[in-house]
Amino acid sequence: MQDNPTPIPLWRQLQGAASLLMAVRDGQSMTAALEDVDAALRPGVQSLGFHTLRWLGRAEALRQQLAKRPPPPEADALLCVALALIWTEHDAPYTAHTLVDQAVEAAKRGDATQHQASFINGCLRRFLRERDDLVARSEKSPQAVWNHPQWWIDRVRKDHPGQWQAILQANNSRAPLILRVNERKTTQAQYLLALSAVNIAATPVGKQGVILASAQPVPSLPGFAEGHFSVQDAAAQLAAPLLLEGLNTGDGQGARPRILDACAAPGGKTAHLLELADCEVTALDIDARRCTRIAQNLGRLGLQAHIEVADAGRPQDWWDGQPYDGILLDAPCTASGIVRRHPDVRWLRRPTDIAQLAGIQAHLLQALWPLLKPGGRLLYCTCSVFRAEGDNQIQTFVAHHTDALLMPSPGHLLPQSGAEATVFPDNLMREHDGFYYAILEKRNP
Ligand SMILES: C[S@@+](CC[C@H](N)C(=O)[O-])C[C@H]1O[C@@H](n2cnc3c(N)ncnc32)[C@H](O)[C@@H]1O
Repeated sequence: MQDNPTPIPLWRQLQGAASLLMAVRDGQSMTAALEDVDAALRPGVQSLGFHTLRWLGRAEALRQQLAKRPPPPEADALLCVALALIWTEHDAPYTAHTLVDQAVEAAKRGDATQHQASFINGCLRRFLRERDDLVARSEKSPQAVWNHPQWWIDRVRKDHPGQWQAILQANNSRAPLILRVNERKTTQAQYLLALSAVNIAATPVGKQGVILASAQPVPSLPGFAEGHFSVQDAAAQLAAPLLLEGLNTGDGQGARPRILDACAAPGGKTAHLLELADCEVTALDIDARRCTRIAQNLGRLGLQAHIEVADAGRPQDWWDGQPYDGILLDAPCTASGIVRRHPDVRWLRRPTDIAQLAGIQAHLLQALWPLLKPGGRLLYCTCSVFRAEGDNQIQTFVAHHTDALLMPSPGHLLPQSGAEATVFPDNLMREHDGFYYAILEKRNP
């Protein structure tokens, strides 16, 4: 019989979450930083890290009131983690006194924080004594209220004057686990039954989507090894049907449509295209390591594509000269639409990133457009809510390309966390990330 593993003390997890916060403050993504965390500690540290990044604006505003001059970075990170956890009593996973005790223990046991243990103790105890006053004063800071950097708040407000508060609120919520059923292997209805047979509550979304009522370890879900599903947000599940709809499907003599997925890794949308249609897909990505993930994912799902490591912006290096019926350009972007799933994104980005990424997107659009057949369609998408990466990008492109026709398209889908519903395309979606979609058709000469 196996012994139960020793439970990991909270102070150890707080130290891990503080290291994660330091890594993000240094510009590293949380996903990358988590790879350095011991496997046994990872789930706890990830959960505390996510919570901290969702409430970091508030925690920093409180820290500024408790100590005008910040302590050394290690102690500041630990204090901010503790404040992010302690400030909301109703939502806090631990009692306030356990947290203070364990945060002080974490400080005492850390080489770089041991001399700050009594300072941290003092700050947290003062917070508990003066909580209402301190929280009320932090309300003056929009960064504390919305838990986003000020420039981000300003930008969302300018881009979406009527919805900016709902967007920021949705960004701070937890996203559910959403699957996409592989229709080559099973159906949405059958897969819901398979989940229910192992007592996993789930509801359908869209045509192939399934929302799980609570998070689960993905590899242990029924049919994972057999390729019955992939993990994919509901908004991302719209890409493949949008491109395939109205696509000129070949020459009428049985030739399969040729599709280019220009920024394909890790292959979520490539796989969906192959699940829905008999088509020939070239899946391109500039990142060789991420291309191996396309191969792994397609292999598990029983699908095949021509995978190529190449720069989509330089077709002269890889294109065989045969035009495509359809092109999917899921362009690199700020990821401002998927903050629910990546709460570090808002703290990692800089205001200048938007223009820089919009420049890359414009270049990719420009380079790929000549590869499309007359009558063919290019689906441009980004997981961003910023108009520079969506509407404005496409309006500029269409203005400069007289052969590009903007077809009826979803445009900006704003992140939804169950509260309000977006009706698109033919069913009610209450749960999805922020996304932008534009369908461009090339006019026949
Ligand atoms: C949003 S992700 C794509 C997600 C993917 N379509 C999916 O659904 O799984 C953007 C991808 O663009 C790739 N990329 C960035 N610049 C590129 C370029 N110049 N050429 C090809 N791929 C590029 C990145 O490596 C990244 O994998």
